[in-house]
Amino acid sequence: MKHLALGQSNLTASRVGLGAWVMGGGSVWGPNPDDRESIRAIHAALDAGVNLIDTAPVYGFGRSEEVVGKAIKGRRRQVVLATKCGLWWDDERGSFFKEFDGRPLRRCLRPETIRLEVDRSLARLGTDHIDLYQTHVPAAAPDLTPIADTMACLLELKTQGKIRAIGVSNVSLAELQENCACGQVASNQFRYSILFREPEEDILPYCAQRRIATLTYMSLEQGLLTGKVGLDRAFASGEFRNDTAWNPWFIPANRKRILDLLGGWKDLTDKYACTLAQLVLAWTAAQPGVTHVLAGCRTPAQVQENLQAAALTIEAPDLERMRLEVMALGPPLPE
Ligand SMILES: NC(=O)c1ccc[n+]([C@@H]2O[C@H](COP(=O)([O-])OP(=O)(O)OC[C@H]3O[C@@H](n4cnc5c(N)ncnc54)[C@H](OP(=O)(O)O)[C@@H]3O)[C@@H](O)[C@H]2O)c1
Repeated sequence: MKHLALGQSNLTASRVGLGAWVMGGGSVWGPNPDDRESIRAIHAALDAGVNLIDTAPVYGFGRSEEVVGKAIKGRRRQVVLATKCGLWWDDERGSFFKEFDGRPLRRCLRPETIRLEVDRSLARLGTDHIDLYQTHVPAAAPDLTPIADTMACLLELKTQGKIRAIGVSNVSLAELQENCACGQVASNQFRYSILFREPEEDILPYCAQRRIATLTYMSLEQGLLTGKVGLDRAFASGEFRNDTAWNPWFIPANRKRILDLLGGWKDLTDKYACTLAQLVLAWTAAQPGVTHVLAGCRTPAQVQENLQAAALTIEAPDLERMRLEVMALGPPLPE
C-alpha cells in the first residue's frame, strides 16, 4: 500500500483510505450493518497496510465511531484516525441543516460545541488523540461562527494534544483560504469522482499548490461505479440511493447509461487485470491534486478489492479516454 504525506502535517496516510460511514448504519444506508462484519472489514484494511480510517460522529449518531474504536483497540498505532466535528443534534445551537435519519441536524462550529464533540469522539473511539480532526461542513447563517474562532479552538485542541492535525470538508475555495489564513490546514475532504468533477475548477489546483492533502469521497458514487448496482437492485425508502433528487444517477434510466458506459471499459479491466471499482478508484487517485481516495466499505471483500487500486497505474491515454467517455455521456436525465 502506497502512503503519502497528509499535507504538511507529520502524518503519512494510505493512498486509499477506508470510509466508515456505511458502518454507522441508519436508514440512509439501508439494512443495518453487522458490527462484527464491519470490524472484520477494518481489520482487513489494517492487515493490508491501509492506515487512513475516516469516520464522523453523525455516521449512525456515534455508532460508526464506536465500531471503529472497537476495531482499532490494541492497534491504535497502526491507524491515522480521522473524524469530524460540526454536525450537531443535541440542542438548538447551530443553524438547521437538514432532517437526517429522523433527527434535525444542525451546522455548528462554535468552540463550545467543538470542545464537547472532541471529548465525546475520543471516548467513542477509545483513544486519547485524534490524528486528523476535520470540520464536517462549514458554519452557516444565522449561527455563523467566524472561521477564525473555529480555527482558534482547533489549534488549541492541537496544543492540548487531543488532535494532531486539522482538516476541513465541504468548503468553498474562499472558506478554505480563510481557514488557511488562520493556521495550518493539513487536508480537505470533498466529493469527487469521475462523474462529479467540479473540484477540478478551483479546489484541487489550490490544494496542490498549497500542499494540502485531498481526501476524495463518493469516488465510487456510492457503489454505482463498481458496476455491481444492477437495474434489479432495489433501495429501501429513506436510503440515499433512493433519493434520486439528491443523486439522479441512481434513476434506472441513468443507471442503465452508467452500466453501458462501464461495460464499454471491459478492454481496460482486461488490460489492467482489474475490476471496475479498482479502475475507477485508480482513475480518481491519478488526477492532479488528489492525494488520498476514500472508499466506503461494508465487507472485507470490498476492502480487499478497493485497496488494490492504490497499486494500479493507468496509462495517460486511458485516463483521458475514460474522462472523454464520461463527458460524452452528459448530465443525468431527470426523472
Ligand atoms: N465529508 C463528507 O461530507 C462525506 C460525505 C460522504 C462520504 N464521506 C466519507 O467518504 C467515505 C466514502 O464515501 P461513501 O461511503 O459515501 O461512498 P462510496 O465510497 O462511493 O461508496 C461506498 C459504497 O459502495 C459500495 N461498495 C464499495 N466498494 C464496493 C465494491 N468493491 N464492490 C461493490 N460495492 C462496493 C458499498 O455499498 P453497498 O455494499 O451497500 O452496495 C459501499 O458502502 C464515507 O464512508 C465517509 O467516510 C464524507
